[in-house]
Amino acid sequence: MAETDTVSFPQDRSCPYHPPTGYRPPQEGQRPLSPATLFDGRRVWLVTGHAEARALLVDQRLSADRENPAFPVLTERFARTARRRIELLGVDDPEHHAQRRMMIPSFTVKRIAALRPRIQETVDRLLDTMIEQGPPAELVGAFALPVPSMVICALLGVPYTDHDFFESQSRRLLRGPGAAEVQSARDALDDYFRALIERKRTGRGEGLLDELIAQQLDAGAIDRDELVQLAEILLIAGHETTANMISLGTFTLLQHPEQLDRLRRDTALMPSAVEELLRFLSIADGMSRVATEDIEMGGVTIRSGEGVVLSTSVINRDASAYPAPDELDLGRGARHHVAFGFGIHQCLGQNLARAEMEIALRSLFSRLPGLRLAAPAEQIPFKPGDTIQGMIELPVAW
Ligand code: HEM
Repeated sequence: MAETDTVSFPQDRSCPYHPPTGYRPPQEGQRPLSPATLFDGRRVWLVTGHAEARALLVDQRLSADRENPAFPVLTERFARTARRRIELLGVDDPEHHAQRRMMIPSFTVKRIAALRPRIQETVDRLLDTMIEQGPPAELVGAFALPVPSMVICALLGVPYTDHDFFESQSRRLLRGPGAAEVQSARDALDDYFRALIERKRTGRGEGLLDELIAQQLDAGAIDRDELVQLAEILLIAGHETTANMISLGTFTLLQHPEQLDRLRRDTALMPSAVEELLRFLSIADGMSRVATEDIEMGGVTIRSGEGVVLSTSVINRDASAYPAPDELDLGRGARHHVAFGFGIHQCLGQNLARAEMEIALRSLFSRLPGLRLAAPAEQIPFKPGDTIQGMIELPVAW
């Protein structure tokens, strides 16, 4: 990498729903790959072009293996726990394929469609309580977080009564102030799942974890540590991400009243609205990979051993893929966005996430037609750039 002008990654957003302006390369706004600098001074390629991102995400010369010493670590907090093997998300094919195959049956469109009544019940119950107790309400705690948290618990067979514990450990893991915090959150979650798996081995319940114990662990196809990690990934990915989409999606719709009116007038628009919110908000910003061979892409050569970071927020605003990309247009039917990634690691829970977002947003806005922010928008805290994007709190009234 010869260029001297680099952007730093990650950066905080100045508006919770727009990418940091600093991610667009300073001198040449339209370059699909440009050099960027990480917290430790390491240089990587920042991918911001849509076509290039999709080509790279299916390229087997890019590896997701966290144990590779050249794998880019995006934040200091993760530096100490980096280089640890991460199942599924951090494993390349063919091993990755074998792990993913175990879980695919639980996430098919059909299985998720069967879960819809349960998601609706959960949403209705939470809204009943919120309406009974308010207004006002703090929407993250009262609704956006418990919806996906309850649903993923039911799907996995994890007792929801433990939610305070695992939600706080996930928070420490993803946003804790330092590396020691991240390490201790990981240890706490490891201990929790080891104990849960042991309990389930004797007492069997219903859920994906129970199925994996019976079909994979007891059959010797995977070991306990592997299952512990898979369970952690599913639990964390299953509630943290969707919770942020519900809170930030609500905030964004309230800040775009003409789009919200459009959605209220035509509720059939909901699936398209969810896709557009996924594209527009790109909450999982910064997928990392490392090149294992030289790759020519977008006019540059990514050398073997160089890190690659894909900014989903800028990729999903590429004007060559989406006309007027900085406008929220719920009817655009945003296709081929990379908010769920692309290629072999493309989000396993995407059907579930879509169902949860549709049901949660539809029910929220239809039961509370007067929903509004209960504080000035610019005073409502949102998450820093080095984690999954979303609202920290969302005070609302109706
Ligand atoms: C709107 C909410 C969600 C967003 C934006 C999101 C985003 C993503 C992204 C960008 C990736 C790819 C990461 C990479 O390639 O490095 C991913 C992978 C993954 N997601 Fe999601 N996700 C969401 C919801 C969920 C849910 C509800 C689950 C439920 C279990 C889930 C489980 C996973 C898993 C297991 C992977 C790893 C897949 C693999 O490596 O094969 N996600 N997600």
